Amino acid sequence: MPKSSEEHRNEAVYRKAKKEGYRARSAFKLLDVQKRYNIFKRVFYILDLGSAPGSWLQVAKQFSESNIEKYNDNYYHRDHYKIMGVDTKNLAPIEDIKIVKMDFTAPEFQVEIDNYFNREKLDLILCDASINKSGNKFSDQARQIKLCYNVLELRENLKIKGNFLLKIFQGADFENFYKKMKQHFMVVRSLKPKSSNKKSNEIYLIGLKKKY
Ligand SMILES: C[S@@+](CC[C@H](N)C(=O)[O-])C[C@H]1O[C@@H](n2cnc3c(N)ncnc32)[C@H](O)[C@@H]1O
Repeated sequence: MPKSSEEHRNEAVYRKAKKEGYRARSAFKLLDVQKRYNIFKRVFYILDLGSAPGSWLQVAKQFSESNIEKYNDNYYHRDHYKIMGVDTKNLAPIEDIKIVKMDFTAPEFQVEIDNYFNREKLDLILCDASINKSGNKFSDQARQIKLCYNVLELRENLKIKGNFLLKIFQGADFENFYKKMKQHFMVVRSLKPKSSNKKSNEIYLIGLKKKY
């Protein structure tokens, strides 16, 4: 059967990712969000939830590394970065990044965060985690929303004015979750990155500047 234009596009993005040294195509989704909302501005402490195989961690490392020089001024600045990635799956190491293998919805995960970041607040939380899809769009969407509520709880680790990005599925309860985000962030936006599969109902929510 001839390949669809979507399949051709996916393959092209896959080849581009390999060529640029990224572990997955997802890197381009994060780069699309960055281009639009500059979520990595002055960001040094980052938590990435659902990280395997690790392309978002690679992107996060590039930005936080360059931020050390770029924002070396009188405003908020750090001379080092800290990035933690977590996944239930195995993740090949990335130099200078802390990788934790566990379910981030487990209460014990908070201990890992506290220990690694020394109880300091984070500049950015990223979440590209998705549930294992069953194929039933309605129950999958409900399970993903439930996961998103769990992820939103972790905002307690974020500094005031920190940024937040998470993946959600469009459908029932999306609006309620969007409203919930608005309670906690000064600006909330949704984005379907160019590099995201058009047929999937995944979309990203961006929370900018966590409220007091
Ligand atoms: C789409 S992949 C992430 C891709 C990643 N952003 C990258 O660029 O390489 C989603 C990941 O979320 C993980 N995940 C989903 N729920 C999780 C949970 N509760 N705890 C830890 N990892 C989870 C899955 O195991 C999967 O590896």
